[in-house]
Amino acid sequence: MEAFDSNISKDRVPTHVSIIMDGNGRWAEQRGHERVYGHKHGVESVRACVEASVEAGVRYLSLFAFSSENWGRPEAEVSTLMRLMFKAIADEIESLKKNRVRFRVLGDFSRLDPALVEAIRSAEEFTDPGPGEEPALDLIVFLSYSGKWDILQAARRIVREYSASPEAIDSLDDAAFSSRLVTAGIPDPDLIIRTSGESRLSNYLLWQAAYSEFLFVDTLWPDFGKKEFFSALEEFSKRDRRYGKVK
Ligand code: IPE
Ligand code: IPE
Ligand code: MG
Repeated sequence: MEAFDSNISKDRVPTHVSIIMDGNGRWAEQRGHERVYGHKHGVESVRACVEASVEAGVRYLSLFAFSSENWGRPEAEVSTLMRLMFKAIADEIESLKKNRVRFRVLGDFSRLDPALVEAIRSAEEFTDPGPGEEPALDLIVFLSYSGKWDILQAARRIVREYSASPEAIDSLDDAAFSSRLVTAGIPDPDLIIRTSGESRLSNYLLWQAAYSEFLFVDTLWPDFGKKEFFSALEEFSKRDRRYGKVK
């Protein structure tokens, strides 16, 4: 299925699909290559999923590219991953803009190379369609991100903001807390896909995943293309989301 199944009704298409892109290292090792070979090929899967999202009418696609814990990998792998991020931005940015895709990166920027932060900021500005203009797709990349870090930075902001009027804390609700997370303004993911056969969240969107549908697939990330993306959407369309209620 290289094309999106048009029998799936629009209200069964997830607004926000999020992917934990896992298995690059194993994909490369299976072919007798270094792990970074898999990371390079993973960029092609990103391109395929962006195209597939636009075709299917998915409004937000978010990708877990590098976790807070991934800083603990060997220095050579970390620097290659950062270089790949640089290169992917440079290579893809024109085409993203042409296809009305708004690019954004979320995570702990204090740990990133300032030159990369600069490249990210200018790519974000370049693909921002401006006030009143709706992009076809928001592409959100989580870099140097973890769910616990996100919740902690929100909690720190809240403590600072409320310190002058501590009694106001009693009115802090779900929406007010969500608005301090780095994902403020982005709807929670409807569908979270993890590739490579691992069935865990690995400290990803802990708060935001409260009511997400999960799909764990065995495919390694560099083998995950349009066909796999569309079949994930098909699987999602069959899910019955009850949110704790009785239907
Ligand atoms: C996912 O692939 C990419 C990142 C975490 C950066 P891995 O590098 O985790 O590949 P495996 O899981 O070791 O195969
Ligand atoms: C999760 O994959 C992080 C990303 C895909 C960016 P990992 O390969 O780092 O996670 P673990 O080690 O299997 O939990
Ligand atoms: Mg992995």
